[in-house]
Amino acid sequence: METKLENMEPRKIILDCDPGHDDAIAILLAANNPAIDLLGVTVVAGNQTLDKTLVNALNVCQYLGLDVPVYKGCGLPMIREQLIAPSIHGESGLDGPHFDALTKQPEVQHAVNYIVDTLMASDGDITMVTTGPTTNLAMAMRLNPDIVPKIREIVLMGGTYQLGNMSPAAEFNILADGDAAHVVFSAGRKLTMVGLDVTRKVLCLPSIVERMGQIDNRAAKLFVDLMTFFNKTQKEVFGWDGGPLHDPVTIGFLLDPTLLTLRECFTQIDIRSEQSYGRTNCDIFNIMKRPPNSAVAMDIDVAKFWDLIEAGIRAYG
Ligand code: RIB
Ligand code: CA
Repeated sequence: METKLENMEPRKIILDCDPGHDDAIAILLAANNPAIDLLGVTVVAGNQTLDKTLVNALNVCQYLGLDVPVYKGCGLPMIREQLIAPSIHGESGLDGPHFDALTKQPEVQHAVNYIVDTLMASDGDITMVTTGPTTNLAMAMRLNPDIVPKIREIVLMGGTYQLGNMSPAAEFNILADGDAAHVVFSAGRKLTMVGLDVTRKVLCLPSIVERMGQIDNRAAKLFVDLMTFFNKTQKEVFGWDGGPLHDPVTIGFLLDPTLLTLRECFTQIDIRSEQSYGRTNCDIFNIMKRPPNSAVAMDIDVAKFWDLIEAGIRAYG
């Protein structure tokens, strides 16, 4: 399947994530595509504690045979108490697949320092993709604010202008570190917010699991093992027959920008209230007359998304 970027320079990205079943598919989709140059994977606490999300990222890269450096990042949110999601991702954070003994090691450098050093050494052509709490990116911005103009753009899975998933108001990645999200949304860089509003339209139904399971390679087996567990917990928690495949939508958007329908608007993170902490207040109707700081995803081409996922799995031979 032709992607919009295949005949262009590969898009350089750093993928900051909290694997997490859907983060694992985002790594799978990004790592083996000629249209994307995955410079590094930086890991943050989120779906599980950092010791677990780090092992999960290493296991996914090792299983898929990816020669991508993995960096250990922040283990706690900037201010609030830690929030994890074992009800969705299990005790390991990546329950379901079986991995062989782990030999891949993380890099020595801390993820925050890696982000700062890599962006500062760049020509401003690196996209930051975040699919977990944005603690690492926010800390990097505070450590060296000069990185902000060096970021080409930020593509962030998180937030919602509608209903939350870990509180009525807030989506997990933002709720887990709303203060970090406030730093990132206030940075003034081009930011695309891929929220629950579109990811809840790409439910990994049994028919999708079956479709990808027809492909005879390791990536397909990983997809099936991951999504079989993920769908079980989504059924238990939300009653859905398929889990929303949140994180890979960020990569799909980079592969084909026509995947999403976006609306420029001012988005403010609620970090003051008890009840609605972590809420992404997207001023869709420009009531506040504030300059836009985000392009919020309003709709997604569902068929195109699953075609991108299938092509990404088939790329593993
Ligand atoms: O709310 C969904 C998001 O939170 C996804 O990125 C999932 O992996 C968790 O991090
Ligand atoms: Ca995630």
